[in-house]
Amino acid sequence: MKFYIATDHAAYKIKSSVIDILEDLGCEVVDLGPENSDRVDYPDFAHKLCFEVLKDEGSYGILICGTGIGMSLAANKHKGIRAALCHDAYTAQMAREHNDANIICFGERVVGMGVIESILKTFIESEFEGGRHENRVNKIEIE
Ligand code: RB5
Repeated sequence: MKFYIATDHAAYKIKSSVIDILEDLGCEVVDLGPENSDRVDYPDFAHKLCFEVLKDEGSYGILICGTGIGMSLAANKHKGIRAALCHDAYTAQMAREHNDANIICFGERVVGMGVIESILKTFIESEFEGGRHENRVNKIEIE
């Protein structure tokens, strides 16, 4: 599985640990920044990542800020992006199985590394169920 990852300054400090977890799980990871902990605006990184995920069919994204809220709000402005704010393994599982999420968001100030590891592992191992969920997912976007 290929992931693009981006954070803001609030989550910069955990970015390399998250990349390590993903690589240990056999994923390819592309780091879209930031490159240091200087203050940045989360929408800039959310939009940068969404453009890459949309260009690279079959890829996924991880967006992390303080709460995960700002990143998910910005990402979901993109047609074709389904960014799920996850708090635990259950929400990560549902994000894939029911919502066909292609981006996972979480908050560095909300979840610890143990929970983050279980979110990532579950997201990777879960698959979209299709069926009745497909019709619902197709209804998310409006012209
Ligand atoms: C930064 O202080 C914080 O607002 C940001 O990381 C994020 O939580 C926004 O949703």
